[in-house]
Amino acid sequence: MTTSDIEIHLDRDDFAQSIRDDVRLGLSERPRWLPPKWFYDTRGSRLFDEITRLPEYYPTRTERAILVRHAAEIAELTGAQSIIELGSGSSDKTRHLLDAVVAEGTLRSFTALDVSESALREAVTSLAAGYPRLRVQGIVGDFTRHLSLLPRLEDRLVVFLGGTIGNLLPAERAGFLSAMRLALQPGEWLLLGTDLVKSPHILVPAYDDAAGVTADFNRNVLRVLNRELNSTFDEDAFAHEAVWDAQQEWIEMRLRAQHPMRVEVPALDMTIAFDRDEVLRTEISAKFRRGGITDELAAAGFALRHWWTDPDQLFGVSLSVAV
Ligand code: SAH
Ligand code: TRP
Repeated sequence: MTTSDIEIHLDRDDFAQSIRDDVRLGLSERPRWLPPKWFYDTRGSRLFDEITRLPEYYPTRTERAILVRHAAEIAELTGAQSIIELGSGSSDKTRHLLDAVVAEGTLRSFTALDVSESALREAVTSLAAGYPRLRVQGIVGDFTRHLSLLPRLEDRLVVFLGGTIGNLLPAERAGFLSAMRLALQPGEWLLLGTDLVKSPHILVPAYDDAAGVTADFNRNVLRVLNRELNSTFDEDAFAHEAVWDAQQEWIEMRLRAQHPMRVEVPALDMTIAFDRDEVLRTEISAKFRRGGITDELAAAGFALRHWWTDPDQLFGVSLSVAV
């Protein structure tokens, strides 16, 4: 693979600027919050991969089983010539789909887009080796900002897995789906993985595992800030929390200050005072119902054509067409 197979839409300067903007805004509001994309430096992407293998974290293996079961059907229905994956991470589950669309005989190219350059490079290198007849390309980019820059290929199927769409707030989600629709031609496809509403007895442990990997992952965002902004967060002074919000139907991930403290953020000329027990919201993970996501897709100009789930209705994968 040559380096030209990676396109950078989010370079160091752009990255540095957007992390500053996000942190300045989020840490000044109450409750304080941070957008989830900053979890995923090299260490964060590794920790996320570890999460996907935890016994409590059912989404990855459930979505994989759904994809294995329906990949041939998806290949036949879409007849895609190009697959574009957003928030691709390791692209591991996507291989089932690639195998099926390659077997169908239509697929020519695969493009992965992720904010995490390290995860993207690893995935693209390994996919290029595994699929020598495909054009494999990586884009370092932000799917909340860079959808208009997607490659203008023929017969595209956009794939967005892992329930990552649930990490956007409802208004951001509507903006994302509309931008996605604008980037596509009528007749092109969107394959979307959505985690479903279920008992908090299943949901909460998936985001608060016994081995503490999710806690490490959550606190990793503080390390990223310390490195990028020279801030003085003490990781050990924050406790990980995952709370089910039954009204909003989302899991909220938080870091709770264990004692009063002041944190310096020299790059922003900020000092943040945390009270004891003050929380910093690091992520939401919204859970969906078939009717709700169908309506959200329709509002953005997508018609849901197929809905697949597992026997326990834990996870949903939908295939929609741009109309
Ligand atoms: N699709 C994989 C990974 C899911 S984790 C799976 O299903 O297992 C979420 C992924 O989205 C991470 O790889 C993270 O780096 C990426 N990501 C998060 N926010 C992003 C953003 N705004 N733009 C692009 N990628 C993003
Ligand atoms: N998209 C994944 C999800 O919502 C990301 C994720 C899993 C995550 N566990 C996490 C994000 C813990 C932050 C903290 O399931």
